[in-house]
Amino acid sequence: MPFHVRTIDPAETAAWFESVMTAFLDRSDAAAIAAEVVPLWDYRRVWAAFEGDTIVGTTRSWATELTVPGAVQLPGSAIAGVTVRPIHRRQGILSRLMTTELDAARDRGDAVAMLYASEYPIYGRFGFGPAVPTATWTVSAADALLPVSAPPGIITFEPPSIATRDEVRRIFHAARARQPGEIWRREFTWDQDLGLRTTAWGPTWKGFVALHRDPTWAPDGYVRYHVDDKWEQRQPRNVLQVDELHALSDEAYADLWRFLAQMDLVATVRAERRSPAERLPWLLTNARAAQMSESGDGMWLRLLDVPRALEARSYDRTASLVLDVVEGVVESPTRLLLEARPMGRPASRLRARRTSPCPCPRSRPPTWAARGCAMPSWCTARTSTAPARSPRPMPCSALRTCPGAPPASRARRRSGRTALPDCP
Ligand SMILES: CC(C)(COP(=O)(O)OP(=O)(O)OC[C@H]1O[C@@H](n2cnc3c(N)ncnc32)[C@H](O)[C@@H]1OP(=O)(O)O)[C@@H](O)C(=O)NCCC(=O)NCCS
Repeated sequence: MPFHVRTIDPAETAAWFESVMTAFLDRSDAAAIAAEVVPLWDYRRVWAAFEGDTIVGTTRSWATELTVPGAVQLPGSAIAGVTVRPIHRRQGILSRLMTTELDAARDRGDAVAMLYASEYPIYGRFGFGPAVPTATWTVSAADALLPVSAPPGIITFEPPSIATRDEVRRIFHAARARQPGEIWRREFTWDQDLGLRTTAWGPTWKGFVALHRDPTWAPDGYVRYHVDDKWEQRQPRNVLQVDELHALSDEAYADLWRFLAQMDLVATVRAERRSPAERLPWLLTNARAAQMSESGDGMWLRLLDVPRALEARSYDRTASLVLDVVEGVVESPTRLLLEARPMGRPASRLRARRTSPCPCPRSRPPTWAARGCAMPSWCTARTSTAPARSPRPMPCSALRTCPGAPPASRARRRSGRTALPDCP
């Protein structure tokens, strides 16, 4: 039976969740969750695939911001709730939902879309790729000694409260603004994270919040944690689970980890969804006390506005890179020349860009010469004497020597700084 895709009305939220839960093998209370989210969701971004009146596929998104290298924020679309009912799978429903959402995100002006993938093979075909790796860190508390090199800061326990929430949120936003890969968080999640709000999604969070304060008593870091009870042979072997830890200074970072590792009755400190590049082992006198596991793809990204996304960020070094960007099924890619700059230098930029199909067939490079085309100096394409099938030739997009083509400078003046002439 055919299906169609549209946004839903708030009244359809419970049915939307029924579909989500069937796909996610979950039996939560769809009506209760719907009542909770209706006042919070932007229904212009909640999509469903309908077979007749029945919801058989779902996707939604919300507005967020992604920090990229150089401490720049890009507007983005965070995607979640991607499901198709089991008996409707492999009929192209996800493809329609995803294309619809990505088109809408582009129309809204989002530069990137992001998500966490339940399974690795799903999203590559839609232009997503793993971008923010994550790992789990496990610290053996008995072996973890963090030497105190400077006067340690002060740690204070804070009750879960509105005031604590506001302080924690302030620190988080200061930290995420400088940490590539971090994203903005929706307001209502803070209340859930601190157990200030019950939710039909699951049990209310119960744990501890500790602030780190610098010598002037100003909070500059925090940790939220809870403890899984575990005893063996009448010995305490509790596992301290770090729900989140953010620090605005190296001192706060080291002090917070030291505070956790020295906790009485705790055998293991465990922190999920941290960076694999965490500097924790370097702080320990015995680096083996910190073990990394479950390292791999964390957040996946889809660049929606490639020039904007690549120009916004800074790079490790000054370099030029030619990129062919393929969007959907097209004759030839858009060619970009990225002039990358490190942080602190003038912004990176894209010097060359073309958007029309290349008239020189990619599969037959010898015709370039026959048509009088020459490769630009920065093009790494094979020559006409190269083997026929590898590597893939580059299209002759930025050819300034094509017969009949206007001089590059004139063409660029006419069509804007990024456009280059096509071959005739
Ligand atoms: C993942 C899911 C949404 C795919 O929905 P779908 O409607 O079957 O997907 P489509 O029919 O549009 O598939 C498009 C392509 O992706 C492939 N694909 C889809 N899901 C895949 C998976 N889990 N693993 C590998 N390939 C997958 C299809 O084979 C198809 O390939 P093709 O174009 O070469 O034929 C669905 O299987 C599902 O609901 N899974 C359980 C919930 C889940 O994990 N959701 C993702 C949360 S991040």
